[in-house]
Amino acid sequence: MFTLNTRIRVSAANRRLFSSSSNRLAGQNLVEKIVQKYAVGLPKDKIVHTGDYVSIRPAHVMSHDNSWPVALKFKGLGAKKVKNNRQIVNTLDHDVQNKTEKNLTKYENIKNFAKEQGIDFYPAGRGIGHQIMIEEGYAFPGNLTVASDSHSNTYGGIGALGTAVVRTDAAAIWATGQTWWQIPPVANVILEGELPKGTTGKDIIVALCGLFNKDEVLNHAIEFTGDAIKHLPVDYRLTIANMTTEWGALSGVFPIDETLINWYTKRLLRVGPNHPRINNESLEKLRNNKIVADNDAFYAKTLRIDLSTLSPYVSGPNSVKIGTSIDELSSKDMKVNKAYLVSCTNSRLSDIKSAADVVKGNKIAPGVEFYIAAASSEVQKDAEADGAWKTLIDAGCIPLPAGCGPCIGLGAGLLKDGEIGISATNRNFKGRMGSKDALAFLASPEVVAASAVLGKIGAPEEVLGEPCKRATQVKKTVIINEKQIESDNSKTESNDSTGSVLEGFPQLIEGEIIFCDADNVNTDGIYPGKYTYQDDVSREKMAEVCMENYDADFGKKTHAGDIIVSGFNFGTGSSREQAATAILARDIKLVAAGSFSNIFGRNSINNALLTLELPELIKLLRNRFEGSEKELTRRTGWNLKWDIPKALVTITNEEGNVILTNKVGELGTNLQDIIIEGGLEGWVRAQIKKEGA
Ligand code: F3S
Repeated sequence: MFTLNTRIRVSAANRRLFSSSSNRLAGQNLVEKIVQKYAVGLPKDKIVHTGDYVSIRPAHVMSHDNSWPVALKFKGLGAKKVKNNRQIVNTLDHDVQNKTEKNLTKYENIKNFAKEQGIDFYPAGRGIGHQIMIEEGYAFPGNLTVASDSHSNTYGGIGALGTAVVRTDAAAIWATGQTWWQIPPVANVILEGELPKGTTGKDIIVALCGLFNKDEVLNHAIEFTGDAIKHLPVDYRLTIANMTTEWGALSGVFPIDETLINWYTKRLLRVGPNHPRINNESLEKLRNNKIVADNDAFYAKTLRIDLSTLSPYVSGPNSVKIGTSIDELSSKDMKVNKAYLVSCTNSRLSDIKSAADVVKGNKIAPGVEFYIAAASSEVQKDAEADGAWKTLIDAGCIPLPAGCGPCIGLGAGLLKDGEIGISATNRNFKGRMGSKDALAFLASPEVVAASAVLGKIGAPEEVLGEPCKRATQVKKTVIINEKQIESDNSKTESNDSTGSVLEGFPQLIEGEIIFCDADNVNTDGIYPGKYTYQDDVSREKMAEVCMENYDADFGKKTHAGDIIVSGFNFGTGSSREQAATAILARDIKLVAAGSFSNIFGRNSINNALLTLELPELIKLLRNRFEGSEKELTRRTGWNLKWDIPKALVTITNEEGNVILTNKVGELGTNLQDIIIEGGLEGWVRAQIKKEGA
């Protein structure tokens, strides 16, 4: 249980002034509207906004090859029967080429578990989980669908709010139907202008990642708006939404518009009239109840790009933050060894057809291996019926089973030392698709196919013997909106308006600020890797080694009840849960930072350590101690006080003067309950016990 002296890990959650202020100042954006629909246990008339912690009951949760670890976690929580088997989908897609006994046993275990529980199960070969979620209508416009996979953002392409969850969340949803989410700041990405011929959805997202490469949308949800969208086919939208993950966003949602509804009308013909989710009734509902953002919805920032100034873009090598127009790259005459048309990003029918159109009448260049895998068995069947699949095979492409494979460095065709690969996938991190000493580039199916034929990175027109078209300067802007909201005091409610606090949860969290002035403090700095896989480390030992890799003096300088404040992207690196539990072991009440890595943020709440984003505080602290002798861990004499019912944080300096007040996201009673129970797992156990009783 949660007690003030020992396990309080209180705190906050804020996404700062604009977050809660926007509760009162603005209407809801599309992300907030969808969350509102799937939030459970809200107080009457509560309208959710950015910064709020909410309990959510997603429409669906998908897990893939990691379904077995999720099942083990589920059983470990004492759960026997899933709460709602209609909510859960299991697909096998990542390691489908692996026929070892170990992998086949895992696959068999997942299949048997799904059968026992009555869960919808899709075997290896049926396709990539995200594609199945779209094809089979689990992810559906206006719904909230999660998956224990980072590319759950894909569902935004069809107007669903898709976001990734960790395995503990997936197990919690299996057991109780729900988990929690903090609504992130929402960025409005305006796409305007007419996309030039030959430029695709992949070029849009590759250009966005390369042109806005200063973490502009990191840990944001994105809503795409603008005049250009109605002309963007749904497959382009899916590709863009899919790669919002690499751009750093937690989701990327397109509007529910006529283009989308027409796409579903066609899809209905493909699936037939009796489909359980895509049917006349569900489409009728969709037509009559399109969810749209309010006119006065608030966005944390607005990014604008003029698509008419865009040309095909290539990302890499080995980073999506490097985006180069194809004409610039083509002039470098960069030879390729391998090309890939695989993955949840770009292996739908339209992608395969586009690649086939480029390849038609040509052969893959000598010395180049061009691997192709359809996103699903349905896509492959359709591509075969169309003739596009045969065109690619006849040109010398190497087929792989529908599934993930080389996208994540599994199975045949990986990059070897010194090789150069061009791929229509989404991630080109060093070593992901094979050797760490290879160079990986990302591009559209058309550019990948052209490069495979040319034997060097090049454009489709070069396959026809024409010169590569010249790129123009891309027009783009970024506007940060938070100031506009902060200055609009006329509609602000009093700070006294507040939420409830559960019995056993503190009304106030307070402590001295310990300033760990560094950005990107990683989980190894917080909890050394050498202890991560030792299961018998005591709480005392965890407390002793907490932050020792960051600063060997941390232990000496801190006391129980202090509040750690650090820079930006705190908790980056590996996903080890001990980074949160070691801080708890040290009896630190609260961690505040400029921002957190998303996984650390989830691990914290899941273990009952609350976190608070206060970028203004970091600026103030840095100003205050500028020029002082550098200390990795500094006792500041400043005090942080978080008033839970008022959702208000107050900072006072050494003299006791108030130097900052920050409205923060509301910590709803559902979330308090999770903290009181010692984290998400404890909360799930308590629910199971209650239901048993
Ligand atoms: Fe699979 Fe690659 Fe997508 S691993 S889920 S195809 S990002």
